[in-house]
Amino acid sequence: MTRDFETRICLPDASGIALAAETIAAGHTVAVPTETVYGLAADARDSDAVARIYAAKGRPSFNPLIVHVPDAEAAQALARMSPLALRLAAAFWPGPLTLVLPVRPESGLSPLVTAGLPTVAIRCPAHPAMRALLEASGAPLAAPSANRSGAISPTSAEHVRTSLGGRIPLIIDGGPTARGIESTIVAPEDGHVRLLRPGPVTAEMLERAADAPVVTLSHSGAIEAPGQLESHYAPSKPVRLNVTEPGADEYMIGFGALPGDMNLSENGDLEEAASSLFAALHIADAASTRGIAVAPVPMTGIGVAINDRLKRAAA
Ligand code: TXA
Ligand code: MG
Repeated sequence: MTRDFETRICLPDASGIALAAETIAAGHTVAVPTETVYGLAADARDSDAVARIYAAKGRPSFNPLIVHVPDAEAAQALARMSPLALRLAAAFWPGPLTLVLPVRPESGLSPLVTAGLPTVAIRCPAHPAMRALLEASGAPLAAPSANRSGAISPTSAEHVRTSLGGRIPLIIDGGPTARGIESTIVAPEDGHVRLLRPGPVTAEMLERAADAPVVTLSHSGAIEAPGQLESHYAPSKPVRLNVTEPGADEYMIGFGALPGDMNLSENGDLEEAASSLFAALHIADAASTRGIAVAPVPMTGIGVAINDRLKRAAA
């Protein structure tokens, strides 16, 4: 593995955020916690900086990045927001919702961020460390999940260090993330909301706030949401789903009444299960067993997003 950097770890206090903002201003990347997963952030206007994100992750450059902004006003400087988009932003920002919007030609964003698409994915995060970094750097921050491309998303600074140590200069350690699953991605379109990636903001929540139907279309052709690539979030060993009886050589991830080597939520609480999902996959991946078995998780609420990530882990 190439070790281009001595990776430093700092806290999200005043000096840590100042160091992180300097690192961003110098055109480098910083791993930073959000309420969903840790992101690898860089100035979204600076192509060299954005290229460093792709290089550190080993990510195919056709895969566009989410741009993080402090508020809806900053989003409107980058993209056009319809009344429907504004309604969703008012309901869920700051928070784990990403809006895919028509990019403004004068946005100043690096073309590497959108990977040539006429749209840009924008999110206004709620985590205080990410918000402090947005304020201190004064830049829109492009940030994919802070893991090697195709690997499990990081929900702790330690996950980031294991995946990207030596490849990035700085990690802000804000402890484990609260939501544990990447943001919901939607495209607000004419009279409906198209769901591109399920997440903490559920279809029911979207429908209620938008007062418009939520539709899901699977696109076979063009890469519209390449995060929908089949094998994503992949552990290094076979994953079996909806298991009630694990094999002798499987690490069992339990849920509710179905126990295991660890349990996503003993009370069967789906929010808790979402926040522990990626940590569980990291632990199971590091265990000495040959495979991973996962108990059934109900398809209600955020359970849809949990099952989406599990299906990809098993692909
Ligand atoms: O919670 C999150 O969203 C985290 C934190 C760090 O904010 N970020 C994250 O980023 O999950 P990433 O890069 O791992 O996933 C971004 C997804 C990808 O699937 C990408 O293809 C999709 O967003 N995306 C980006 N721009 C898009 C666009 N213009 N149209 C459709 N999909 C887009
Ligand atoms: Mg990712």
